[in-house]
Amino acid sequence: MIYLFDTLTPVMNLNQQFALIRQSATVAMSDRIIALKADGKNIVGLQVGDPDFGTHPAIAEVAFKAMQAGLTHYGPSNGTLELRKAIAAKLLRDEGVTYDPASEILATHGGIHAYYLALQSILNPGDDVLIPDPSWATHANMAIMLRGNVIRVPAPAENGFLPFFDSWLKALTPQTKAIVLNYPSNPTGAYPSKAYLQKLQDFAKQNNLWIVSDEVYGSLFYEDRPTSAGAIDGAKERTLLINSLSKSYAMTGWRVGFLAAPAEVIANAWKAGQNSITCVAPFIQKAATFALTDPAIQVVTSKMRAGYGRRRDLVMRLSHELECDKVKVVPPQGAFYFFLDLRALKMSSVEMCEKILEEEGVGLVPGSAFGEYGEGFIRLSIAASDEDVEAGFRKIVAWAERQ
Ligand SMILES: Cc1ncc(COP(=O)(O)O)c(C=O)c1O
Repeated sequence: MIYLFDTLTPVMNLNQQFALIRQSATVAMSDRIIALKADGKNIVGLQVGDPDFGTHPAIAEVAFKAMQAGLTHYGPSNGTLELRKAIAAKLLRDEGVTYDPASEILATHGGIHAYYLALQSILNPGDDVLIPDPSWATHANMAIMLRGNVIRVPAPAENGFLPFFDSWLKALTPQTKAIVLNYPSNPTGAYPSKAYLQKLQDFAKQNNLWIVSDEVYGSLFYEDRPTSAGAIDGAKERTLLINSLSKSYAMTGWRVGFLAAPAEVIANAWKAGQNSITCVAPFIQKAATFALTDPAIQVVTSKMRAGYGRRRDLVMRLSHELECDKVKVVPPQGAFYFFLDLRALKMSSVEMCEKILEEEGVGLVPGSAFGEYGEGFIRLSIAASDEDVEAGFRKIVAWAERQ
């Protein structure tokens, strides 16, 4: 049995919020796969959210030299000015947005920590937070941990996994404080047009809402470059940008990212960071500065994007070749996931993933882990070798055909 949806029983002398948070399906799946592998089973792991590419050795070299040079003590708690300047340069180069390194940027422990600090800086207990469904489970979980009240906004497959605009209007309450966006999306890869973002920003302005935009997959796109939520006219004053080096530079284990936001938000986030992590390790900040600015490393990022693009094409080619009505495949616009539509099987996505794992040895993540509107879907990661992606997809189709 995969341990996925257990809700913990509230215990009176503990923080009650945690009773509302579900076990991470992705982590649960990884644990199950590790156990199966330990039993000697051959598993095709397509459940991962971690690039299969290594961090470029030149980045590691910079970190190593920085350690040898003595950057092994505390550093500036908001990030070195050098790193904040590199982040500002990256935001201007890639997203066309201008941020002041002195007051509008904070170095963080990856995107997840940037998201945590962002929400902590703006939320008061009981504030409503609008979050599309499906979306990465942490978006809702973190808001709950911080005593926000999460309102899910349906983002159905039938609308390209974007909420219909009416759904935003319907979800709005007098207590709504913020909208959380994540484009390109985990798990769907979808991202909206500039016109859609403009409309959403107008809506946020009219209703005095913050927009918290998680753009960690921003450099992984297969169509026109996605527009950053901060790049819309007049948006900067109400937008909090979350980003990291994890996915774009294959640096998940380095735990380095950033928050870019209005100065008053950064002032709060800085205090929250100081009082929780002190600072990002200085030798990692040095390596991050190099990764963000070195021209050759930007080429490496483009090559990784091309690699994912090749696997995306591979899955599309296989899906045309195998012609399986039970597995509907829509090419993702960005990120490194396919959100396969198996609703025709009328089986829960947890059951499907359990069966595919047990019978075919393929690790996947159930769509329901991302919300109600993910039910009937399974997430397949293409952050794996071409061979594994091909073998895994063929096995999923073969399994579906037998149902
Ligand atoms: C949508 C999304 N945001 C943020 C993160 C966190 O990334 P990191 O903290 O490694 O930057 C992830 C990781 O999978 C993710 O999928």
